[in-house]
Amino acid sequence: MKIVAIISQKGGVGKTTLATAIAVAAEADGKQAAIFDLDPQASASFWHDTREAPTPAVAAIPSSRLQHLLQAAEESGCDLALIDAPPFAKDIAFEAAHHADFILIPTRPAVLDVMAMTKTLDLMKHYSKPSAVVLTFCPHAGRELSDTEHAIGELGATLCPVRIGNRIAFSRAQQTGLAAQEYEPDGKAAEEINSLYRYMCIQLKEVKHERTEKTTKRAASRS
Ligand SMILES: Nc1ncnc2c1ncn2[C@@H]1O[C@H](COP(=O)(O)OP(=O)(O)OP(=O)(O)O)[C@@H](O)[C@H]1O
Ligand SMILES: [Mg+2]
Repeated sequence: MKIVAIISQKGGVGKTTLATAIAVAAEADGKQAAIFDLDPQASASFWHDTREAPTPAVAAIPSSRLQHLLQAAEESGCDLALIDAPPFAKDIAFEAAHHADFILIPTRPAVLDVMAMTKTLDLMKHYSKPSAVVLTFCPHAGRELSDTEHAIGELGATLCPVRIGNRIAFSRAQQTGLAAQEYEPDGKAAEEINSLYRYMCIQLKEVKHERTEKTTKRAASRS
């Protein structure tokens, strides 16, 4: 099982939207995905409540339960765990980063968002985990995009090559518990999420998997 944490100290940057859409993309790719909702606002869980399909599974949990429940998910055959972290909560961000194989940091292309992203990057320096900043709510064009990309480069952070546009399909889909690619399969939002999912899979392939070895050993010692 691979673990992706979606972390940003800034609120409303698209963390939950990406967590749910990536989980749906993984399921469409034949994987079993689960979302661990660490946010007391429980947005991912509300999304699941309005969703007709039972998958991907969403568990609203306190961060103190994360390790145990990730382990249980791995043992039950989950392929991809997505951790949806809340804003303004350093301790929870640390806990999420600690368990992650890869960290996605959604950021809007705007000055105040870049400043907030700097704080998130500082937190993440405590862990030498692969990570990438993904730009969300991107306008069609404008110097904000190139300025933000430049700032990310200056900070030494990795920029995800996929930009997520400011698209109504994301919020419309959520009203009925869908992901944007389910709401409008041929739309731009769907294209972006599928590209982001493929990018993430490539990053995860590089990750050496110690947990799986441990789980396999534990299973072998039980039999
Ligand atoms: N790329 C996008 N384009 C347009 N609207 C979006 C996009 N991404 C998310 N939204 C909408 O913006 C709002 C905030 O998104 P979301 O809840 O995913 O952010 P968040 O970072 O998880 O927020 P919080 O920090 O409160 O947990 C939601 O209404 C969502 O539908
Ligand atoms: Mg959220």
